[in-house]
Amino acid sequence: MKIGIIGGTGGMGKGFALRWCINHDVLIGSRDAERASASANEYSQTAKEEFGNIKGSITGNDNITISKESDVLILSIPYENIDSVCSQVLPVIKDSCTVISPIVPMTKTDVGFEFIPLKDNKPFSYQLVSKHMKDKSKLVSAFHVISEKKLINPKLVLDYDIFVCGDDKDSVDVVNGLINEIKGLRPIYLGPGSLSYLAEIATPLLLNAMIKNKLKNPGIKII
Ligand SMILES: NC(=O)c1ccc[n+]([C@@H]2O[C@H](COP(=O)([O-])OP(=O)(O)OC[C@H]3O[C@@H](n4cnc5c(N)ncnc54)[C@H](OP(=O)(O)O)[C@@H]3O)[C@@H](O)[C@H]2O)c1
Repeated sequence: MKIGIIGGTGGMGKGFALRWCINHDVLIGSRDAERASASANEYSQTAKEEFGNIKGSITGNDNITISKESDVLILSIPYENIDSVCSQVLPVIKDSCTVISPIVPMTKTDVGFEFIPLKDNKPFSYQLVSKHMKDKSKLVSAFHVISEKKLINPKLVLDYDIFVCGDDKDSVDVVNGLINEIKGLRPIYLGPGSLSYLAEIATPLLLNAMIKNKLKNPGIKII
């Protein structure tokens, strides 16, 4: 499978690339093709050092080129840039492409981390992204409550749940499969895409819990 990562040069992009290159061809996307290639080379080197031989590969190109080629596309970009990026990349994806949004609409204020949709009366990430989808059912929300620090370190033992929201069973199954490929992560389905705000708000909840209670490496697990 070809997995494209829009904004793949960021911290989450690196984590996804390292985890999925074991079995898949990962395409790092950036606004700048050269930056994408440089990141892809760096991640490939790290992957070889960590895993030895990998079945897949990591390459880089501009966001629009990788969007055309991807079977799964993950939008690893800040909330503030959803409209400018999605209006360019989502019109060119394959009809069969599953799109993943891990995007958290969050800001830090005097009281702690806050959820932008509630604080500023703005749409949550899933709502903003879905405006640009040709087929909204192919959009799945996931990966809001796993930090880049945990994803980029394959030596860390993980034991966390990942909330998943989406409308189409086949697309949700694709994302569940990718979550299950990361040892120690378990997909937990919350419901249709319209409930994605429940998954998105879990991140400021977790970060406030961590900082105010001095917790190390917190995650979410339903027991
Ligand atoms: N960091 C975490 O631990 C974490 C955990 C859970 C969920 N998330 C969510 O995952 C997403 C990615 O997180 P991240 O920490 O990797 O983000 P990030 O490092 O802040 O940004 C990721 C990439 O987005 C691109 N980007 C930055 N500004 C842009 C702009 N104005 N227009 C278009 N593209 C722009 C950049 O790529 P180029 O400059 O190469 O184009 C950048 O490398 C976010 O939505 C975040 O809320 C993060």
